Amino acid sequence: MKLFESFSLGEVILKNRIVMAPMTRSRAINNIPNSLMAEYYGQRSGAGLIITEGTSPSADGVGYARIPGAYSEAQIAGWKAIADTVHNNGSKIFVQLMHCGRASAKENIPEGITIAPSAVQLSGEIHTDNLGMQAYDIPKEMTLEEIATTQNAYANSSKNLVENANMDGIELHAANGYLLDQFLNPNSNIRTDEYGGDYKNRARFVLETVQKTVDLIGSNKVGIRLSPYGVFNEMLGEHNEVVVMFTYLAQELAKIGIAYIHIADQRVAMGAPEFATDIKKTIRDNFDGVIIGGGNVDTSQKGEDLLNINYDLVYVGRPFISNPNLVEKLKNNSELVQPDFDTAYTPEAVGYTDYQ
Ligand SMILES: Cc1cc2nc3c(=O)[nH]c(=O)nc-3n(C[C@H](O)[C@H](O)[C@H](O)COP(=O)(O)O)c2cc1C
Repeated sequence: MKLFESFSLGEVILKNRIVMAPMTRSRAINNIPNSLMAEYYGQRSGAGLIITEGTSPSADGVGYARIPGAYSEAQIAGWKAIADTVHNNGSKIFVQLMHCGRASAKENIPEGITIAPSAVQLSGEIHTDNLGMQAYDIPKEMTLEEIATTQNAYANSSKNLVENANMDGIELHAANGYLLDQFLNPNSNIRTDEYGGDYKNRARFVLETVQKTVDLIGSNKVGIRLSPYGVFNEMLGEHNEVVVMFTYLAQELAKIGIAYIHIADQRVAMGAPEFATDIKKTIRDNFDGVIIGGGNVDTSQKGEDLLNINYDLVYVGRPFISNPNLVEKLKNNSELVQPDFDTAYTPEAVGYTDYQ
């Protein structure tokens, strides 16, 4: 099967085409990656590529409790131990950079305030460790200066991760309603300057961030995750610029020549409705680089089927939570252990490193 064959991604060779999908697990006490996390990722090094959980590039981006950052020396040291463990176990690893933007409460970001493209609040509540469930903050609309500072934070974190933490690359999280996606989407971006308005203006923050990151670490170390038609975090899934915007993004990203586009399919696990168009094909037709596809892959045949319809790599999320040796299990068609979601975001080792 092609799924178990090696693949050349940028400067690295992946031992197979299975990608561990980014999954927030909230074990980073004080937002610092630790040895428990190194053990967890080390256990999952059967994957050709590991994409880490969402990681904030700046102190105002850690919207959720205990998510890791990549903006302090201690955080970079923690990530280095993780990269070294994964490399020693024969896999490759990219850090997913996720600034939560408006998906945040101030209790979770003691060193900052909640910022977003526009002052549009999420409804509902978010977990905090000290005060329990809290309303999402009303975000502060980012100034042009804050826009530049935040873009630089993505680029500088990327440089630090690659140069000082031995990471193989980084993935910009422009999916699932976090900061980059908040700029893309008309539900969260109602700006009237050059970063809001039509799809080209809404894409500006993302494309400038990609370019700044590429300028510092090189195009073949930068991937991006997109979620067309996504509705998670109160994004507007379907609107009249979806096709034209993702066509434009794919074409511009192709010009920059990034390592890959990773398409998160929110119809799986995140409740998005059926897509109005074949948007994945639109992206494929306009981007001649590597594309990662997936969603609900729990057998090797489902992964192989995706490779046969023009994806290069296959992401697998939930099965990796509860099957550290997933690749072997897929190879042998063994039965998979189902994850316990009660322990998905708890701080301890239970439900994290104790799956067999
Ligand atoms: C516990 C959990 C945490 C997740 N955290 C992230 C995240 O930090 N970044 C991200 O892009 N997607 C995140 N996702 C979405 C997954 O990457 C993936 O797209 C989703 O689980 C569907 O794939 P699957 O059917 O293989 O599980 C998360 C999913 C789960 C279950």
